[in-house]
Amino acid sequence: MNNCAIYPGTFDPVSLGHVDVVRRGLRLFDRVVIGVAENPGKHPVFDLDTRVQLVQATFTGEPGVEIVPFSGLLVQLAQQHHASAILRGLRAASDFEYEFQMATMNRRLDSEIETVFVMAREDYTFVSSRFIREIASMGGDVASLVPAPVLPLLKQISTRSG
Ligand code: PNS
Repeated sequence: MNNCAIYPGTFDPVSLGHVDVVRRGLRLFDRVVIGVAENPGKHPVFDLDTRVQLVQATFTGEPGVEIVPFSGLLVQLAQQHHASAILRGLRAASDFEYEFQMATMNRRLDSEIETVFVMAREDYTFVSSRFIREIASMGGDVASLVPAPVLPLLKQISTRSG
């Protein structure tokens, strides 16, 4: 059976930092299933369908990558896909506490699923979806931070906020 990892996130929107994590994940796993979380508690700017479509457009034709929306527990998604691991990217020490809590809680929910961290490429350590949205909404240039299919949508939020 091939080795599968779930890469979960809100992807609001997907960034080149996320793409880097997926590429690193593919070196370790045969399959990476990108789980796009509905995450209503985070009040995403882009709706779930849009976020899924942007991730799909980013990874079109990429072997070993599958994209699924989800709204339940992450460990349940991992179980459904027979994933042996949850993949997460670490940018800086400041990410660690939240990631550590989440990994520990997920292990309590299913001790068979291991959380695996990869370190994002140095040039993406400062990249976050929140900054990307903020910069784009104020008319700043984010072309070097997001996959090409994301740019037209970010231009829309820039137009919307005047
Ligand atoms: O990109 P994000 O916002 O850091 O991703 C957060 C995500 C989607 C990984 C997290 O919110 C999540 O796992 N949601 C699913 C619900 C769940 O399983 N919660 C318990 C985790 S301890």
